[in-house]
Amino acid sequence: MRELKILAVVVFFTLLTYWGVEPFAHSQMHAHVDGKNFEYSHLPAVKAGDAAKGKELVMTNCTACHSINAENMPAPMDAVMSAATYGVNPPDLSNFGAILDPKYLAAFIADPAKASGVSHKFTAESGKSHPMPGYNWMPKEDIEHIVTYMQSIAKKDLTPKEVYVDACGRCHANRYDNKVMGEKWTQIGQKERFKYKKDSLAFDIQVIEYEDSLKKYMGKLPPDLAMIFRAKGTHFLETMIEDPQSQLHGTAMPAVGLTKDAAEQVIQHLENTGDPSKPIRDSMGVWFLLYMGIFTILAVLWKKSVWKKLH
Ligand code: HEC
Ligand code: HEC
Repeated sequence: MRELKILAVVVFFTLLTYWGVEPFAHSQMHAHVDGKNFEYSHLPAVKAGDAAKGKELVMTNCTACHSINAENMPAPMDAVMSAATYGVNPPDLSNFGAILDPKYLAAFIADPAKASGVSHKFTAESGKSHPMPGYNWMPKEDIEHIVTYMQSIAKKDLTPKEVYVDACGRCHANRYDNKVMGEKWTQIGQKERFKYKKDSLAFDIQVIEYEDSLKKYMGKLPPDLAMIFRAKGTHFLETMIEDPQSQLHGTAMPAVGLTKDAAEQVIQHLENTGDPSKPIRDSMGVWFLLYMGIFTILAVLWKKSVWKKLH
């Protein structure tokens, strides 16, 4: 009986560590290193506006560059042409109302370079200006109408992949983002598995053209993010998403302005693609404990029967 009590104690503490202490410690450690916790408290508050007025403003000011799938507004040019013109493909605006902090979105519309922390690239001496014009000539209320409109059309239940595509996908490829072999995410969209090599090569050429424009705009090619989760982990990604300058001073990567939830979805996506066997490993954990449990009981029973014979 004593053995069984000891066993019970061991099992209890093993499970406590597995389900209680470890996740708790994890959450505590992250709370400390969370940067500014995606609060954007340095930016002024944004009041709710009028979505109908916002729609009018967006249709007259933004659709010359951006598509809005939610409104069946097509892109004026394809991704490669857009990048040749602006350096990068202006993203589809359908879901930014859901993934960006509203204060950040308002600040970005007013002054994109300043809000995203890349004014150092667009100084008077450089002779360059941000490819998206600032709208700080608009009254603050108009920008609030735009933000309210963008929130009203955004999907509420985006997948981690959809958030990644909107927030990072125009700059960062991901060679392991595939459902079937031969697929991957490129900055011009998902590369499918082509039946003919000719079509596959034609697609690759488009990607190279896009990347050439992007390189010119950014000064270097944004790296493929397939392995970044394994290489750098959650904390690095969080700070890189919230404030790239804090991680790499003077970097060309803009801040993206994601909410905490959206940032977590992006990181989830990078974990999913960078470590696709993790769900399998996690589900193995329970089986392993079960195996250990049964094995221990058998060992105790065996020991008892051996000792019985000896007494
Ligand atoms: C002249 C073209 C142009 C116009 C007009 C324009 N944009 Fe943009 N926009 C861009 C480009 C280019 C980018 C990508 C910049 C980058 O990634 O460095 C962008 C990026 C964005 C983003 C993404 C911000 C982020 O955090 O990733 C949002 C949101 C946005 N624009 C909203 C708007 C709204 C709203 C309007 C109208 C009020 C507008 N844009 C008008 C070219 C334009
Ligand atoms: C407008 C283009 C652009 C967008 C959008 C963008 N990045 Fe970047 N990113 C870059 C560039 C350029 C670099 C290289 C920076 C450098 O080395 O200075 C970079 C670097 C990085 C790095 C560092 C990689 C390393 O090896 O250290 C990470 C991590 C990263 N980006 C993650 C993201 C994530 C996550 C998103 C979306 C939330 C995102 N980026 C959106 C342009 C972009």
